[in-house]
Amino acid sequence: MTTTLDISITKIKESRLSHYDVNNVAFGKCFTDHMFVAEYANGQWEKAYIQPYADVPLSYAMSALHYGQAIFEGMKAYKNEKGEVSLFRPLANQKRLNKSAVRMAMPEVPEELFMSGLSELLKLDAGWVPTSETGSLYIRPFLIATDEAIGVKISDTYKFIIICCPAGKYYSEPIKVLVETDFFRAVHGGVGFVKAAGNYGRSMYPTRLAQQKGYQQVIWTDSETHKYFEESGTMNVMFVINDTLLTPALSDTILDGVTRNSVLALARDWGMKVEERKVSIEEVMTAVEAGKLQEMFGCGTAATIAQIVGIGYNGKDYDLPPVVDRKFSTKVDEELRNIRKGRSADKFGWMLKVS
Ligand SMILES: Cc1ncc(COP(=O)(O)O)c(C=O)c1O
Repeated sequence: MTTTLDISITKIKESRLSHYDVNNVAFGKCFTDHMFVAEYANGQWEKAYIQPYADVPLSYAMSALHYGQAIFEGMKAYKNEKGEVSLFRPLANQKRLNKSAVRMAMPEVPEELFMSGLSELLKLDAGWVPTSETGSLYIRPFLIATDEAIGVKISDTYKFIIICCPAGKYYSEPIKVLVETDFFRAVHGGVGFVKAAGNYGRSMYPTRLAQQKGYQQVIWTDSETHKYFEESGTMNVMFVINDTLLTPALSDTILDGVTRNSVLALARDWGMKVEERKVSIEEVMTAVEAGKLQEMFGCGTAATIAQIVGIGYNGKDYDLPPVVDRKFSTKVDEELRNIRKGRSADKFGWMLKVS
């Protein structure tokens, strides 16, 4: 498979950057000047280019739209005080994209193609990376099946695309979640462990029902018994009980979050007791009722560390400890920001400078 493709670059005639305050834009609504595109056909990656961000002609018969061969990633770039732009753990996203690609019978994107497209794009659009404390450039790499054909079959052609948008906070406030025990997100043998677009489509209806009841998100439980926590929206979920950090163990129904992995690495480095295992609703609700649940939060690239201050279960609402009392998640949130903004030593080698 060809991995060294020349990337042809067509620059935008006039940047749109001056139309926006990148430190103050709604998440996911404003896109940078350029995008990266690579095209797959005839069993190989044939073409790679950067062009001005724009709508592009695609067929309504395109197989991604009908049969769901569509996968994506979410990652971020940060600007430090010297104005340098760095990516956080980009290879983890590249590897996860390929894990998704294999499961969805799509072609893998070679590391070199992924990384060179990404860094060329970021060099051009570095001015769009926010400088604010909680700001970053959200990067959306995605792979879609582009065969113009109705009929369920594995597509022969694909596009791998990267678009970017400046982003502030995903949740402006701590959130309330509903423990979902009717619907489920993923089953064993399914695609819960990959970032397939369909995973998100199927979550919309249960999430809407939860939002109508005043919750921001659902927390999914296992499909077989609905007794164990899985994850929430676009976040993995964590608890602190008895000074121990608890999180559901990875399985084929849970996404292997890059943020989850980073939080666990920091906790272990700080000598905190960490348990990755099945976490039952009963155990957590017993801790809540006994006043022993110290912290509950979600973690993900978009949401960063999202404090969960309320939980609904079995028709009852429970208040969780106030955010000011949450030592671990406050510290881990701060340390991740410090590493990303270049203020703390990058002892795990997570940051990759691109410009
Ligand atoms: C379902 C799901 N779980 C967890 C996460 C968190 O993963 P990460 O930390 O890699 O963003 C995400 C976001 O990508 C997600 O969509």
